[in-house]
Amino acid sequence: MLPHNVRGIAMEEPDQKLAQMKSIINEIKAIYNQGTPLFTKEAMRKVGQELEICKTVTSGRRYVTLRGINGVDYTNPVDHPREQLTSRAELYVGGSTWVINYNSIESLTRERDIEFFSPQRAYLAMEINACYRELETPLIPDENDLQIFSTEDLLKAYQDIGRQWRTSDYYQQLQAALAKVKSPIALDKIIGVALGPLTIQTQLNHRSVLQHILLSAIQSIFTEQNVLSASSKRYVQDPVYTQEHQDALSLTEFTMLEDPQAFLALDNSSVLLSICADIPVKEIVADICCPGVIIWDRKINDSVLRTDLDSSRVDKLLEQNYHELHFPFHESFSDLVMYVRKTT
Ligand SMILES: C[S@@+](CC[C@H](N)C(=O)[O-])C[C@H]1O[C@@H](n2cnc3c(N)ncnc32)[C@H](O)[C@@H]1O
Repeated sequence: MLPHNVRGIAMEEPDQKLAQMKSIINEIKAIYNQGTPLFTKEAMRKVGQELEICKTVTSGRRYVTLRGINGVDYTNPVDHPREQLTSRAELYVGGSTWVINYNSIESLTRERDIEFFSPQRAYLAMEINACYRELETPLIPDENDLQIFSTEDLLKAYQDIGRQWRTSDYYQQLQAALAKVKSPIALDKIIGVALGPLTIQTQLNHRSVLQHILLSAIQSIFTEQNVLSASSKRYVQDPVYTQEHQDALSLTEFTMLEDPQAFLALDNSSVLLSICADIPVKEIVADICCPGVIIWDRKINDSVLRTDLDSSRVDKLLEQNYHELHFPFHESFSDLVMYVRKTT
């Protein structure tokens, strides 16, 4: 009989599991290197439908079947988020919910502690997870920050900040940078992904408000230049929006999309703005389409600082299909870069 550790697991088992993990990782690398997409619209549509069904379930566990990158279907349990409540529940706001977990090629092929490795999930680029909306920092509101107690407060703050920002030097730099963009055909939509929550508790999140204002400004400037058609729409997707955020955004002509609808809507006739997303937006785009204009974070391949990494496939998409243009730096937008599709 094999010796057992304190939890009764045969001591040989970790070695077998480690070998299995390495072999699966090598297989995933080989499948990926053959050009197999991690994300397809068909697979995203399916995970979106499963997510909607999860939202109608009031308790208990559901079993969800999703296809792995190896073409095999895996059925996994998805708990009801409320059943995971812990004594730390008071640390969380916004309630518990389900989200789509998007796994980058970096995370699918990263060796991990075998305790956290599951062959049933190893091949899945998308999964549904029960989670809490975490209480975000700063926990203690700065007394200089605006306090928001209603949709009217939020709307007023949004409009005041936008009005002031449009008189800034930065706005002029933005106009100059966007003036360099030419598009052979008018694009028909602008999509903002991961622009963040407009408030945190009752405190205005100035950075996120300004990112939404940036999206509107890009739409107006591009419409004047005929890069976007006059009838173009603007969409945003961030699962963190509260009802108050949604109310204020609809009053400022944003259409909010539920995950993964922004990716399903994204196509070659789109302008995409994505800032510090904590999902692999770049890899999703590289697999599904070539938007007319892309504005997102400048490449830094540091998986500690970034979750939205530039994979080899992202590099290839950009090198083959895009011109890189300067995008002015602003502390609320971090270091963004703009790509405009080549017209060949
Ligand atoms: C690090 S925060 C960045 C927020 C904001 N852009 C900023 O720069 O402060 C990452 C954002 O990604 C959002 N996010 C996570 N999953 C997403 C999804 N599936 N679609 C869109 N946004 C998502 C989070 O809710 C969060 O607002």
